Amino acid sequence: MSEATSTATWQQLKELAAQSDTLNLRELFAKDKQRFDNFSLKTAGLLLDYSKNLITEEILKLLLNLAEEVNLKEKISAMYQGDKINNTENRAVLHTALRKDNPEAEIQAVLDKMEKCSEQIRTGVWLGFSDKPITDIVNLGIGGSDLGPKMVVEALTPYTSNRIKCHFVSNVDGTHISETLKYLNPETTIFIIASKTFTTQETLTNALTAREWLEQKAGKKKINNHLLAVSANPEKAAEFGINHNNIFPFWDFIGGRFSLWSAIGLPIAIAIGMDRFKDLLHGAASMDQHFLNADYQENMPTLLALIGIWNRNFLNCQTQAVLPYDQYLELLPSYLQQLDMESNGKSIQANGEPVDCATAPVIWGAAGTNGQHAFHQLLMQGTQKIPVDFILSLKSHNPIGQHHLFLYANCLAQSQALAFGRTMEEITDKKLAAHKIVKGNVPNNIILTEKITPQTLGALIALYEHKIFVQGIIWGLNSFDQWGVELGKQIAKKLIPLLEGDEIPSDIDCSTKNLIEKYCNY
Ligand code: F6P
Repeated sequence: MSEATSTATWQQLKELAAQSDTLNLRELFAKDKQRFDNFSLKTAGLLLDYSKNLITEEILKLLLNLAEEVNLKEKISAMYQGDKINNTENRAVLHTALRKDNPEAEIQAVLDKMEKCSEQIRTGVWLGFSDKPITDIVNLGIGGSDLGPKMVVEALTPYTSNRIKCHFVSNVDGTHISETLKYLNPETTIFIIASKTFTTQETLTNALTAREWLEQKAGKKKINNHLLAVSANPEKAAEFGINHNNIFPFWDFIGGRFSLWSAIGLPIAIAIGMDRFKDLLHGAASMDQHFLNADYQENMPTLLALIGIWNRNFLNCQTQAVLPYDQYLELLPSYLQQLDMESNGKSIQANGEPVDCATAPVIWGAAGTNGQHAFHQLLMQGTQKIPVDFILSLKSHNPIGQHHLFLYANCLAQSQALAFGRTMEEITDKKLAAHKIVKGNVPNNIILTEKITPQTLGALIALYEHKIFVQGIIWGLNSFDQWGVELGKQIAKKLIPLLEGDEIPSDIDCSTKNLIEKYCNY
């Protein structure tokens, strides 16, 4: 049994969950007129309203006990102080060190290097092989070396330079790079090869194609200025032929999916400028301080995590939707998929024992209001309870007409409809009444900010990072490794020569054999 599941608290929560059918959000709100005040909190420019969850004071108290019983505070300190909590890789986990006010010298040196490079590119001082200023940046990376910078650059579009356009190529499918390069001019394009390991097949394949594309167009001219690398393996980047000055290092104590704060954030710095990149870091740092210092009952990441534990482990919710009511945050759900599912999608505890409870839910979502006309039907009337995180801003970057008013109203309406539903009595036209009932009681959070800025976005991302950390602790996981992705990579390596014509081993399964033959004989 794990530290958490063996506690009396876990058993008590199970008993309360067995009676959870009696929990009714309408009644809970009717009983407590202060429920919003009691179940919301503010920090780092964010307000978390968790009042529309199927929790009572009693349930919350037990969940908070659980945090105490797994020594969460001690574990947070262990992470911040650089203990090797990623035990299967024998590594520290120090993304929080990247956003400290006075970072270590090696971190500061990379920030300085990023500042110099991004300024030169932004001001047109950095020139391409034909002495023209740079107009386009193409980030070649995948997973954590893609999703974070891509999501942030998109989210902070209102702050981006009009002169430089950022593109992101991740897929090994040649379509991705071909379609991206189609409209770009090699004279004014820079590639950032972003790979922690610098061994990732997708990224290196794209990097070779990019280099060939540059060489073809540059003829005998030097293309050094067009190739940058970000890696925790700078030797490999140098072997690839990247100039020493153009290699931006980071370290094995930064997990791929936690790396946007490092030089992996170079496209962000180029897009929004280094001062704003630092604002992003400051926003995350204020959430870090809050997470470290606030008591559990006032600790936003801890509360968000514990509510997630209640929904996942006790109410058996298998998926979790994230619905940003903000077009600029459209990529947040896919960013959070990696952050959450690669961190906590595990069934073995850090100590090597199997888990004895459910772990990470499936994370999914899309920007509101689009989902309302697609999948909200299932959220409202489907057979599973799917908790939702709504993300909302008071102010829009594009305050035209009534757009923001309508967006805001729709978000609140969905949150209300999910929580409180519609009863038979409330249906005026009784024709097809059974079809019109909405049961309600779907737990949902609203995370509200004044405006999405570099600062508040930094805090929002750090909120989710820490939420995932807390859940990993409760489940007894090492949230910082990802052994599950290795097997597929190894099998692909073995299949490549077979697709190139090597003899197919006789013990291969007949499905794979037939599909290889189809490829070879085509
Ligand atoms: O395969 C998964 C993964 O290892 C992620 O954890 C990582 O973010 C991604 O691949 C890319 O890895 P790299 O930055 O080393 O190319």
